Amino acid sequence: MAFFLTTVLSIFAAVSFAQTREVFKISSSLQDGNSSAQFTSGPSGLDAPKVHPINASAFDLWYFDVVSTDPSSLASVVIIFTSESPASGPPVLDPTQDSILIARLWVTFPNGTSWTTQAFADSATVVAQENVSSGQWHGTGFSWKARPDSGYHINIDAPDVGVKGYITFAQVAPAHLPCGPISTGQTMQVGPHIGWVNAVPDASSTVNIEIDGEKLSFKGLGYHDKNWGDQLFSYVASWYWGHARVGPYSIVWFDFLDITGEEFVSAYVTKNGRILTASCNLNSLSVRPTGADGGSAYPPVISTPNPSGYHILLDIGKENGRMELNVDVVQDIIHPNPTYGRFIGNVRGHISVPGGKKGSSFTKDLRGVALFDQFKLTE
Ligand SMILES: *[C@@H]1O[C@H](CO)[C@@H](O)[C@H](O)[C@H]1NC(C)=O
Ligand SMILES: *[C@@H]1O[C@H](CO)[C@@H](O)[C@H](O)[C@H]1NC(C)=O
Ligand SMILES: *[C@@H]1O[C@H](CO)[C@@H](O)[C@H](O)[C@H]1NC(C)=O
Ligand SMILES: *[C@@H]1O[C@H](CO)[C@@H](O)[C@H](O)[C@H]1NC(C)=O
Repeated sequence: MAFFLTTVLSIFAAVSFAQTREVFKISSSLQDGNSSAQFTSGPSGLDAPKVHPINASAFDLWYFDVVSTDPSSLASVVIIFTSESPASGPPVLDPTQDSILIARLWVTFPNGTSWTTQAFADSATVVAQENVSSGQWHGTGFSWKARPDSGYHINIDAPDVGVKGYITFAQVAPAHLPCGPISTGQTMQVGPHIGWVNAVPDASSTVNIEIDGEKLSFKGLGYHDKNWGDQLFSYVASWYWGHARVGPYSIVWFDFLDITGEEFVSAYVTKNGRILTASCNLNSLSVRPTGADGGSAYPPVISTPNPSGYHILLDIGKENGRMELNVDVVQDIIHPNPTYGRFIGNVRGHISVPGGKKGSSFTKDLRGVALFDQFKLTE
């Protein structure tokens, strides 16, 4: 049965989408001239490169993560496939490098110990089609493949940097764009000059990797998105992004301030895989920092300490009400510089339906885990 289903899906994919299957070769060197960035959704797959070519102001990256669902474990993995100018991307790692094509890996072990590496590629190949994609960063040993029947699969065979293994992603919640479900002709900007598509808002993931002979195996919630831009990342003043699962709900938040102080949001909530909210209306989401000693200052600037958590409000529709989440930072999983923080944490929350069926308010307690990050780039 599994084989039969696979075959049918492949034939269906080949027949329906053959004309939109595209193969992209990406060079490891920066190109001169103007980059052109795609910010409106079209027939190309979500994983297609969105900036051509990569000049010194451009970046195009493919992001994956998994955080353990076991509350007693601090295990996590983040992998980013980048094609970016050293000067233009998110200021997450050191800016001196030979190739613009890098496979980067960050992990935390169950005890919280962190480890990171990066591998430089000679070239990259991305194949993209609706719901089918693959990416190979040649020479690094890092690659991914995705098919509708089996989900995303990252393979790592990188003895030079001491890592091998695989990570799987079985989709739990459907893909979306910043302002709604997948469809053509929609904006793919989450804020000015920042493209964002979220192919995997939530997945059941298995991580099975070995790092310098140490095994890291766990199950968790997986996630995959894609960011790109044609201008320096300094258009961003600050942002709060994250994903979580609490009970039957999968949640993705993006709350963003540009350098003029204008706020942009993207809110996404599903229940048992069905979309309740996928919106960029300002009243659909608010994410604000919490904590003592200045961590709750908003808007945050570079010298603002990292918060101890976030208070998140989500509008999940007239019938469903409002979701309120308190996210508590449990572990800092990256320590690059004061402008960037990436964390794993616990989520507590509830849903209130104002004047539910009998005029009473219904509250449901929710518990879960999250992986999230923040930038603060101005002083
Ligand atoms: C890049 O775009 C700018 C503004 O549109 C234009 O003035 C310039 O000539 C372009 N440069 C190249 C190399 O095409
Ligand atoms: C890269 O392309 C963008 C978009 O056309 C342009 O605004 C920018 O000036 C270019 N950067 C460089 C360094 O040429
Ligand atoms: C944490 O776990 C890693 C991986 O198993 C191990 O190498 C390291 O020694 C542990 N650290 C502590 C403080 O126990
Ligand atoms: C491809 O993805 C879209 C959007 O997530 C979905 O509506 C569609 O059913 C998927 N197609 C296949 C063949 O899985």
